[in-house]
Amino acid sequence: MTVCETEISRVTRPKEATKANYDKLSKWYDILAGRSEKKYRDAGLQKLRVGKGEIVLEIGFGTGHCILSLAHLVGESGKVYGIDISAGMLERAGARVEEAGLSERVDLKCGDAAKLPFGANFFDVVFMSFTLELFDTPDIATVLLECQRVLQNGGRICIVALSKKGKPSVMTRLYESCIPEIL
Ligand SMILES: C[S@@+](CC[C@H](N)C(=O)[O-])C[C@H]1O[C@@H](n2cnc3c(N)ncnc32)[C@H](O)[C@@H]1O
Repeated sequence: MTVCETEISRVTRPKEATKANYDKLSKWYDILAGRSEKKYRDAGLQKLRVGKGEIVLEIGFGTGHCILSLAHLVGESGKVYGIDISAGMLERAGARVEEAGLSERVDLKCGDAAKLPFGANFFDVVFMSFTLELFDTPDIATVLLECQRVLQNGGRICIVALSKKGKPSVMTRLYESCIPEIL
């Protein structure tokens, strides 16, 4: 068993505040984090080995970069679903999907990952990047249980998240301290 000795900060802001923050941030998100986080998102997607015809869920899809990659990977016979709490992010990701001509294989919804609006055993794959750390510690277990519920037996999940190992990066500091204040 591995014991985690690093203190992680509790997330005390209410979900309405998270939603409002990301609505505002949706216009700037690609400039702020799009480039710096891309290599980690891509590494996560690669590990998942998503194949043609698979049914995939992305939680917290943001401006939709990974939704697009996933839609290419599942091909015409597959389907990608996405859920995000922010209507602003939904609008941006939806426009990106439409522009790429991939609307038929993508279904994006606004909602809370702690209560996924999908039936049990529905997905082959669940993907999440830079989203799980936005939940308060007890809620992380709720979200992971929801992922387990909607995943088929033998389904795959990949979570890309910030780490507190080593020197804190600018993004780690932003997430932990001032993201709510700068918005
Ligand atoms: C830091 S952004 C990451 C976006 C994208 N995954 C990426 O890597 O670029 C976190 C995303 O999670 C969404 N989010 C935050 N809380 C959520 C919740 N309770 N349920 C669903 N999505 C949530 C935000 O609206 C935002 O789009």
